Amino acid sequence: MINKIGIIGGGNIGGVLVHEIVSRRLARNVGLVDVKPPEFAKGKCLDIAEGTPVIARDVNCEGSKTYEVIEGADFVINTAGVPRTMRADGTFPSREELLGINLKITDQVAEGIRKYAPKAFIISIANPLDAIVYRLFKQLKFDPKRIMGMAGVLDSARYKYFIAREANVSVENVEAVVLGGHGDTMVPIRSACRVYGLPVEQFVTAAKLEKLEQRTRGAGGEVVSLLGSGSAFVSPAVSALDMVESIAFDKRKITPVAAYLQGEYGIKGLFVGVPVILGKGGIEDIIKIKLTPEEKKALANSAAAVKKTVAEVDKMK
Ligand code: NAI
Ligand code: 2OP
Repeated sequence: MINKIGIIGGGNIGGVLVHEIVSRRLARNVGLVDVKPPEFAKGKCLDIAEGTPVIARDVNCEGSKTYEVIEGADFVINTAGVPRTMRADGTFPSREELLGINLKITDQVAEGIRKYAPKAFIISIANPLDAIVYRLFKQLKFDPKRIMGMAGVLDSARYKYFIAREANVSVENVEAVVLGGHGDTMVPIRSACRVYGLPVEQFVTAAKLEKLEQRTRGAGGEVVSLLGSGSAFVSPAVSALDMVESIAFDKRKITPVAAYLQGEYGIKGLFVGVPVILGKGGIEDIIKIKLTPEEKKALANSAAAVKKTVAEVDKMK
């Protein structure tokens, strides 16, 4: 059992994270920080804690507006950020405006981690994913083995789910992976996709796969437009906990993770989704998989898109 997990941001994803950690008895203590008034994080934790006698879970949940609540955490999961929301006049903030706001929040997050949980493994979820985890890394200067972004687990889960539905088989029978940045340029790797160990094309036609891959690339937006406010929150939370479990239990599970690349896949100095081994040391290895020439090109294109956003990050002090 993990001693303590710190969650930053107690909104939709943060709330599910605390609830899941308690339900799974994943940690003895959870510390939740959220700046929202009057005492949002405290309220969220009290609600979950008051249910623990009913479900027989002895997990301490503490919420606060300030960061000392994550003190000594073994893992920190960052969900703090402002989503793209319609203004009263019907307009939306630009991506750059959002990036500017979210980077300021990320700098506060980095400060809190540096002060209270300098030894933690960091899993960042907040968007724009690849840019925020890059900023955290730049601010914290931690070993890149223990700082990573969650997107690939979710994007791959969506791809698996769509294939399972189309093939009319269990989701457990599908193996599929999505690499690259967490955006429109993400790359579903069809060549690595298997159903019951067999090539996916035996179950789903190439034309249909094309459509499912397009749906995967737009899957985050699909949920946003269906919900009407906010974005997906259960699937991102369970995806991040999959990463926590692999590290905490030294599972050495090969997992698609936004990892800091230093030449792997021809990418340098960026966080981009690639398959890694997650074990007790964090990112213990980056796995090189054979891609088709089209997949290689698509991954390079995705990395170029991440590089463009990161260049904006570097400009914003
Ligand atoms: P949310 O808006 O429900 O929660 C975010 C929380 O962060 C809010 O409660 C807010 O008060 C808090 N916050 C803001 N500034 C803070 C600070 N300085 N310190 C601590 N807390 C602070 O948003 P939700 O739905 O939980 O999503 C969180 C982030 O995750 C968003 O950026 C969203 O776009 C992203 N996301 C990423 C996914 C991925 O695959 N990586 C999937 C889905 C969402
Ligand atoms: C998602 O993929 C919007 O990043 C968010 O659901």
